[in-house]
Amino acid sequence: MKNIVVFTGAGISAESGIKTFRDTGGLWDEYDIKDVATPEAWERNPILVLDFYNARRKQVMEAQPNTAHKALVELEKKFNVQIITQNVDDLHERAGSKKVLHLHGEIMKARSTADPSIVHTLKSSNLLLGDKCKKGSQLRPHIVWFGELVPNMELAYLLVEKADILIVTGTSLNVHPAAGLVEYAPRDSAKYIIDPNEVNLLMEEGFTYIKKNAGNGLPELCQKLLNEK
Ligand code: APR
Repeated sequence: MKNIVVFTGAGISAESGIKTFRDTGGLWDEYDIKDVATPEAWERNPILVLDFYNARRKQVMEAQPNTAHKALVELEKKFNVQIITQNVDDLHERAGSKKVLHLHGEIMKARSTADPSIVHTLKSSNLLLGDKCKKGSQLRPHIVWFGELVPNMELAYLLVEKADILIVTGTSLNVHPAAGLVEYAPRDSAKYIIDPNEVNLLMEEGFTYIKKNAGNGLPELCQKLLNEK
C-alpha cells in the first residue's frame, strides 16, 4: 500500500467556518500573537490567554468537518494515509481520519503546568483559572506556543521521508519548523499543493500546484488518486 502524507494548515478548516491566521481578517489581524500565544503572555495575563482559546474552542466545537476532511478519509480505502496537521482543531479526527499527528497541539486538550505528561481531554469549551490537575497545578491549553519546542517534529520528518505522495493544503508555509517539512519528501515522490492563493513554495521543487479551495481541489485530487491503477 502506498504512503500518502497530507500536510494541512488552517485553510483546510476555513470552509468549516474556522478563521485562518494570515488571510485578510484572519486571527492575527484581530489579536497580537504576543498577547495570546506565547509563554510570556501566559505568565503576564493567563485569563486573556484562556479567554482566547475558550472562544476558539467554542467555535471548533460548533464546526463540522468539510468535504476536504472527508475526502482524506476516502483515500484510506487504497492508501496508508498519514495526516500531519498544524491545526489544533479535531476536524480531521471527527471526519474519521485514523492517523493524525498534531504539530502545534490540540485545542480540545489541556495539560498540567507542573507535569506536561498530564493531559486532559476537555468536554466543555471553557478552561478557567483555578482548573487544576491532580497535582494541584493550573491547567493550560495543550497548544505549542510561539517560542516553544515542537515535540512531534522528529516523527513528522520520518513520516514525510517515507511518503510516496505528499499533499500540502491550507498552509501559507510561513511558520517554521513546520513549514520545512516539505523539504523532507523523497525526490521521486509525487507532490501536490492545493491553495486558492499564491504560496511561498518554489514550484521548482516538483510540486503540482492546484489553485483551488481545499473543499473542491482535495476531493478531485483524491478521486484521481483512487482511480489510478
Ligand atoms: N482551501 C485551501 N487553502 C485555503 C483556503 C481554502 N478554502 N482558504 C485559505 N487557504 C490558505 C491560504 O491561502 C493560506 O495559504 O490557507 C493558508 C492559511 O495560512 P495561515 O493562515 O498562515 O495558516 P497556517 O499556515 O496553518 O499557519 C501556520 O501559524 O499562527 C500559527 O500555529 C499557528 O498553526 C498555525 C501556523
